[in-house]
Amino acid sequence: LAKIEINLDEIAENRNVTFKWRGKPLMVWHRTDADIEAVRKIPLNILRDPEKDEDRVIDPKWLVVMGICTHLGCVPVSHQGDYGGYYCPCHGSHFDISGRTRKGPAPTNMEIPYYTISGNILSVG
Ligand code: FES
Repeated sequence: LAKIEINLDEIAENRNVTFKWRGKPLMVWHRTDADIEAVRKIPLNILRDPEKDEDRVIDPKWLVVMGICTHLGCVPVSHQGDYGGYYCPCHGSHFDISGRTRKGPAPTNMEIPYYTISGNILSVG
C-alpha cells in the first residue's frame, strides 16, 4: 500500500507505536509537553546533524519518523538511550525525542516521511 492512515486517538500520550508502511517500520510517538519542551531547548550547535525540532514535526505532539537507524538500518527501540528517544542496539546509536542522532555511529537524523495530519487522522505517503 502506498499510503497509510492512522487514527491518532488510538495512541496514548507517551507511547510510541510501530506500523508497517511500504515494508518498513514507521514510528509514531505521542510526545508529552515535557518531551516537547526538553527537545526544543537543545541548542542546534551541539547537534551532529543540526535540524530544529520545529522543522521535523507538523504538530509538536506527534513525531512521525521512519524506524530505521541511519547507521546500518536496524530498528531502534523507543524510550531508551541517553537522550530518552530511540536507541539502536546494533552498534549503540542514541537519538533524541525528535529522532535526531546524538551519540554513536549513526551519521544523520532518522528520516521523516511525507505526511499530513487532518483532525485525528495521520496520513503517511
Ligand atoms: Fe544502528 Fe548500527 S545499525 S547503530
